[in-house]
Amino acid sequence: MMRIRIIGDDVLREQTREVTEFDDKLNDLIENMIDTMHEADGIGLAAPQVGLSLRMLVTDISGVEKEGKPEAFINPYIRESFGEVVLEEGCLSIPGIREEVTRPEEIVLEYQDATGAKKKEQFSGWMARVLQHEIDHLDGVLFVDHLSPIKKKLVANQLTAINA
Ligand code: CO
Repeated sequence: MMRIRIIGDDVLREQTREVTEFDDKLNDLIENMIDTMHEADGIGLAAPQVGLSLRMLVTDISGVEKEGKPEAFINPYIRESFGEVVLEEGCLSIPGIREEVTRPEEIVLEYQDATGAKKKEQFSGWMARVLQHEIDHLDGVLFVDHLSPIKKKLVANQLTAINA
């Protein structure tokens, strides 16, 4: 049984390896990650958050935008980004912390679907935001890494209090 890992797990700081097998096992994992994300009321979940150092993530933004649906992104890479927007983020791996983060407003993403088919697509709104947050996870980056030094210190103190 998988579980959401919390901050401090080394796997959250590792560079993930690409997915190479597009088989039933991958489909089971995608299904499991989508269930895990829904149970945790999340809008995105990256493989390192369930202890797997693999370049893949799932999203479902139906809670914040009506066209949202469960989706899987395998071996995703951001190729271009445009604009800038401030939005409040949280993370299932850092419970209790929410902070405003500045990121590009739109992205062009190259990825593979569950069958291995290559895709190139432009995303904006919450989809662009959740994809950037989850792709950070695939590169060992957490959203708190984007905060100013002062904010980082405040968050570190909050985390110490939470984990005490
Ligand atoms: Co996260």
